[in-house]
Amino acid sequence: MSSGSDRLAALMARGTAFLGCDVAIMAGAMSWISERHLVSAMSNAGGFGVIACGAMTPALLDAEIAATQALTRRPFGVNLITMHPDLTALIDVCAARGVGHVVLAGGLPPAGSIERIKASGAKLICFAPALALAKKLIRSGVDALVIEGMEAGGHIGPVSTSVLAQEMLPHIAEAVPVFVAGGIGRGEAIAAYLEMGAAGVQLGTRFVCATECVAHPHFKKAFIRASARDAVASVQIDPRLPVIPVRALRNAGGDLFTAKQREVAQALDEGRVAMAEAQLQIEHYWAGALRRAVIEGDIEHGSLMAGQSVGMVTREEPLADILAQLTAEAGEALARRAA
Ligand SMILES: Cc1cc2nc3c(=O)[nH]c(=O)nc-3n(C[C@H](O)[C@H](O)[C@H](O)COP(=O)(O)O)c2cc1C
Repeated sequence: MSSGSDRLAALMARGTAFLGCDVAIMAGAMSWISERHLVSAMSNAGGFGVIACGAMTPALLDAEIAATQALTRRPFGVNLITMHPDLTALIDVCAARGVGHVVLAGGLPPAGSIERIKASGAKLICFAPALALAKKLIRSGVDALVIEGMEAGGHIGPVSTSVLAQEMLPHIAEAVPVFVAGGIGRGEAIAAYLEMGAAGVQLGTRFVCATECVAHPHFKKAFIRASARDAVASVQIDPRLPVIPVRALRNAGGDLFTAKQREVAQALDEGRVAMAEAQLQIEHYWAGALRRAVIEGDIEHGSLMAGQSVGMVTREEPLADILAQLTAEAGEALARRAA
């Protein structure tokens, strides 16, 4: 299969050069999950790990980056959420620690953040939810983009990965490296997106059951048991309260979220909270619910954020083995096509 692995390396060359790793596969940041152990395991295996800053304070992020650097000498990134109140301080922490790649998630980068990240020498990766926004981000100097479809775990947009890839790759893949995310569980899909012009891919769900991942054993068991149809998008119950949908395994926690939306919508009605505060309350709710499941192992009432590729997660195994399977499948698919 060496022709397949050579072809894979060639198709990934732009992505690996950009990330500074061997395989252009990113382990997308997952709050509470993507901490020093998973991130260093991913980077040590030749892929690209990304720390999820989530709601961490600058001091906590600083400690997490230092601890990750103690576990790997390979490059890794840090994912920052744009609405974090201390975004500037978090950017400065990344700069002081010499982080090479910053990923901005959760909406368009606020004024000044792009310049601040680039001034630190770091490469900036942003999520592009639509073609017009992708072009705008490229014009603003973003170095690479992630396009993520609604098959993904966690917060999702309305469009599937296959449609986003067809709509966007032909128009932006020349300008910047583009990483495709959402619903990828096997290497055949990786090969297909690379052939369509992607520089690499980003997976989350597939890495949750890595041996090195600190998620609670109950959380991992729920992933191993689940099939694609169990990973459902949350429903917005009040049209006045726009809530970004979240894809997670169905459980009682979904009902708790519906109740939370009602409570926040009522507070909005009665003028007890403003819209921005209402939306922030919803986001805090998710962070707390995810922690409850990932750290405490309460898989009934916590949030089991997972993508549709969860059906392809069948056992706990070392991260390097998962990465090796994905690249072998991709290489074999490319070799078959060449033959
Ligand atoms: C449990 C979980 C938590 C996540 N948390 C975050 C996050 O904090 N920030 C972020 O940008 N993406 C987050 N994501 C999205 C992942 O980074 C990644 O893009 C996504 O999982 C890719 O799709 P897949 O799940 O189909 O592989 C999360 C995904 C999961 C499954």
